[in-house]
Amino acid sequence: MRVLVTGGAGYIGTHTCVALLQAGHQVVVLDNFSNSQPQALARVQQICAQTLPLYRGDVGDAALLQQIFAEQQIDAVMHFAGAKAVGESVAQPLFYYRNNVTASLTLIEAMSAAGVTTLVFSSSATVYGDPHQVPIVEDFPLAPTNPYGRSKLMVEQIIRDHCTATHATHGFNGIILRYFNPVGAHPSGLIGEDPHGIPNNLMPFIAQVAVGRRRELSVFGDDYPTLDGTGVRDYIHVCDLAEGHVRALEQLHGRQGCHVFNLGTGSGISVLQMVQAYAAASGCDIPYRIVARRAGDVAQCFADASLAQEVLGWQASRKLTDMVASSWRWQSTNPHGYSSTTV
Ligand code: WQD
Repeated sequence: MRVLVTGGAGYIGTHTCVALLQAGHQVVVLDNFSNSQPQALARVQQICAQTLPLYRGDVGDAALLQQIFAEQQIDAVMHFAGAKAVGESVAQPLFYYRNNVTASLTLIEAMSAAGVTTLVFSSSATVYGDPHQVPIVEDFPLAPTNPYGRSKLMVEQIIRDHCTATHATHGFNGIILRYFNPVGAHPSGLIGEDPHGIPNNLMPFIAQVAVGRRRELSVFGDDYPTLDGTGVRDYIHVCDLAEGHVRALEQLHGRQGCHVFNLGTGSGISVLQMVQAYAAASGCDIPYRIVARRAGDVAQCFADASLAQEVLGWQASRKLTDMVASSWRWQSTNPHGYSSTTV
């Protein structure tokens, strides 16, 4: 299939482009490089020995979308483009609603006008908010606690309503994938997570401590009701996540209606377990300091991943050691991300 990948130069986007190409699909990328770099796509082309048609611009640009659908015979869309920093969303909610919700609405309208009816949407476990229990099942209450999570839930609802409205005519096929905590990098070390500025997330921060870019890790609280008092999350290797997208598209293309899946491993790892694993993989000391809890954090968040296994025949296979070793290979080879080498 020929797939339009919005945000294709981003962390999840690049890894999914690789997985799509290596599964024999064709890829067209739309990216505005607001939180990514063109060099990332050069690396994707290097890994796959293929060139990628690239459109530089915003998902919210209806004229550009119309041009893409007119010029490219798109069979499906994978929509990764969007802002994803929880803290930033609290400070700039209007930007998040415009960038994540309005743009997605424009995309779905352009798809429908072009007769493209399959959308794989990058959602997030953040839509669950603070779960009443773990592991989290897809039919748990959806109660996001920040504008980022609410923007993701709003798009999910837009997709759901559009699927319902088009059921009798040109049945829209909405595939919603709720990520837990993507980490790690492609085994080549050529692509990986390259956050702008100070990393919000745990793994890239640890990686930057290991490579000497950051002095120490602040551990946000060690008084949670968990095995060692630090936060527990469902970390999933980004290559597993990418393969889950390809599997979902292949299994559900041609269907109609709204399909929702958790993409996680089904098990939780604590902050201190992650620190220990990274130190072992990198051979580097990871200095850390216990500080106050971060506002909005929950104690535990991990998936019940059984629905994706039952319906899609997919499950995450890579272990914590794969996650930290691949992250270290990427970070040690590219100490300053894509701007550090010209490979
Ligand atoms: C993980 C754990 C922190 C940084 C967020 C988004 C979610 C998704 C993934 C987009 C927590 C602790 C972290 C640090 C720390 N993003 N931590 N020191 O908060 O589970 O999820 O990113 O889809 O939507 O909400 O991930 O990596 O920020 O935190 O102690 O410097 O690491 O308290 O327990 P989170 P995270």
